[in-house]
Amino acid sequence: MKGIILAGGTGTRLLPLTAVTSKQLLPVYDRPMIFYPLNTLIKAGIKDILVIVAPDHSGHFLNLLGSMFEKLGVHISFMVQKQPRGLAEAFILAEDFIDGDETTLVLGDNIFEDDFTEAIRTFAGGGRIFAKEVTDPERFGVVEFGSDHQVLSIEEKPTHPKSSFAIPGIYIFDALVVEAAKGLTASARGELEITDLHKYYLGKQALDVRMIEGAWFDTGTPDSLLAASVFAKEHNFSERFHAMVNEAIVAFNGEYKKMVSLKK
Ligand code: G1P
Repeated sequence: MKGIILAGGTGTRLLPLTAVTSKQLLPVYDRPMIFYPLNTLIKAGIKDILVIVAPDHSGHFLNLLGSMFEKLGVHISFMVQKQPRGLAEAFILAEDFIDGDETTLVLGDNIFEDDFTEAIRTFAGGGRIFAKEVTDPERFGVVEFGSDHQVLSIEEKPTHPKSSFAIPGIYIFDALVVEAAKGLTASARGELEITDLHKYYLGKQALDVRMIEGAWFDTGTPDSLLAASVFAKEHNFSERFHAMVNEAIVAFNGEYKKMVSLKK
């Protein structure tokens, strides 16, 4: 299983914060946002992770993560998405990286309390996505269920949602996803929609939708960014990170301090 973190995009809703650095490097309490999706993947045992970034602040990602996990056996590689053409494009850009394997994609601005280890480890082909009941489904991909929990419909940011179940930004797909993404046409807003990939697997009767537990944040706005920070602090997210991620951060801080003192 490979892991991809999509950390592209322009983050315009967070300007001027995102004029300084990438959205996914902004702080969520005591660490840059990207550590949360990284933790989600590393916790599940994924050791090969591609981070897709926008060109503007791409060097910041390299400075932070370039060699941070190598000693711990987690290989992180980077790719630049020149223009954001939609989430599904990640699978086209990452074709060589995926190389016929299964992939878990996490959006770089999605923060989860839940643990996806079991869902990732037991994945056996097709597509596995998740659902969470929310009060503002029109902001998200929305899944409608029938009486037997079967999926009736999937829509991207519908004006009149058919249910209150949003589809959070973590997706597990088999290798067919690359060709499926290549076959998509852009939506009315000009994007290759991730929800069209869900529909592709639904059409093949190969889509599994699981409920997530606990808190979930899509930190694309100042309010949700603040709410995620407060929640992370109050619920001790830092202590609950995988030990390997916390070790990597401590080692990085030590090396950084050494480097700064050498410069003096
Ligand atoms: C994207 C997806 C949407 C999903 C959401 C989760 O929207 O298009 O289906 O529910 O992420 O965060 P975005 O927030 O990028 O507009």
